[in-house]
Amino acid sequence: MENKIQEIRTLALQEIEQASDLKSLEDVKNKYLSRNCEFNNLKKGMKDLTPEMRPVIGSLLNKVSSELETLINEKNDIFYKKELNEKLLSEKIDVTLEGEQIPLGHVHPLTQTVNEIVEIFNHLGFSLIDPALSPEVETEKYNFDLLNVPKEHPARDVQDTFYCDGAKGVVLRSQTSNAQARQMMSSKPPIKIISPGRVYRNENVSARKNNLFHQIEGLYVDKNVTMAQLKGVLNEFVRLYFGESRPTRYRNSFFPFTEPSVEIDVQCIMCQGKGCSVCSGSGWLEILGAGMVDPNVLRDVGIDPNVYSGFAFGMGVERLTMLKYAIDDIRLFFNNDERFLKQF
Ligand code: PHE
Repeated sequence: MENKIQEIRTLALQEIEQASDLKSLEDVKNKYLSRNCEFNNLKKGMKDLTPEMRPVIGSLLNKVSSELETLINEKNDIFYKKELNEKLLSEKIDVTLEGEQIPLGHVHPLTQTVNEIVEIFNHLGFSLIDPALSPEVETEKYNFDLLNVPKEHPARDVQDTFYCDGAKGVVLRSQTSNAQARQMMSSKPPIKIISPGRVYRNENVSARKNNLFHQIEGLYVDKNVTMAQLKGVLNEFVRLYFGESRPTRYRNSFFPFTEPSVEIDVQCIMCQGKGCSVCSGSGWLEILGAGMVDPNVLRDVGIDPNVYSGFAFGMGVERLTMLKYAIDDIRLFFNNDERFLKQF
């Protein structure tokens, strides 16, 4: 029996020696150290031994088993570390490696201006209109009638306004002022909103004019709204948008839906007021139209002009952007030329 044990031990040692990875080592372990291993089979035969031999063989079996177990465990440790290392190496991430450059687009300069102006007016207490009240495809009713624009006014002419369906009076809005009546008919004063969006006019496209452009409309209606407040709000807007040092002036003007009406000019940024081709020699550039909401407009939307008053203003986003960054051609905004867009 002793010989048999030594024989199995030799075989086992050989197999341990030959095991080349965790898996094959596991097989060796199962073969020599599990419940049905050959040593355990030998143990069953111990009952046939003489009482003197039993402890001798018993302790030999234990000694060999624990020797094999130690060897297998040692080798198991080595394999385990080796395989773990290989796995870690193969999955290694070098966090110091430079990342892959994912090209990012950025916000269009016109959108940047809109965002900036909306933020300024938010700060002044105006909130963004519900877009449902500011549609681009509009009826003459909101684009003209309710804004006190007479039927024979030249702005309605097909020269200026794109008619989608003349018979039904459907137009592409020519001004964001269409939002005024819609807003006043859908909520009671106090109303204090701004409404940015696209407008369309049948213009000959040039460096100064495009037939699609953007406006931002503002409307404030409440009790006791005054021209002084209009000036206060718009002066603050100009100061925040152009900076403290840009001189402005208010000029008498006319819009059918405001009375009195004004236009605001800023000093020409190209010539600093000296007079150049951009400002046609005047030294000033118009940036927005505004005025006190005409009592007729209030009455037509069901607001009593004896109780309420208001002011409105409308500004061109392209123009404001061109003036701020000294851009000399409006078409640059629409050509999608990266060399231009990248500068913003
Ligand atoms: N809607 C006018 C325009 O497009 C601007 C404006 C808006 C003037 C509101 C007065 C009040 O020229």
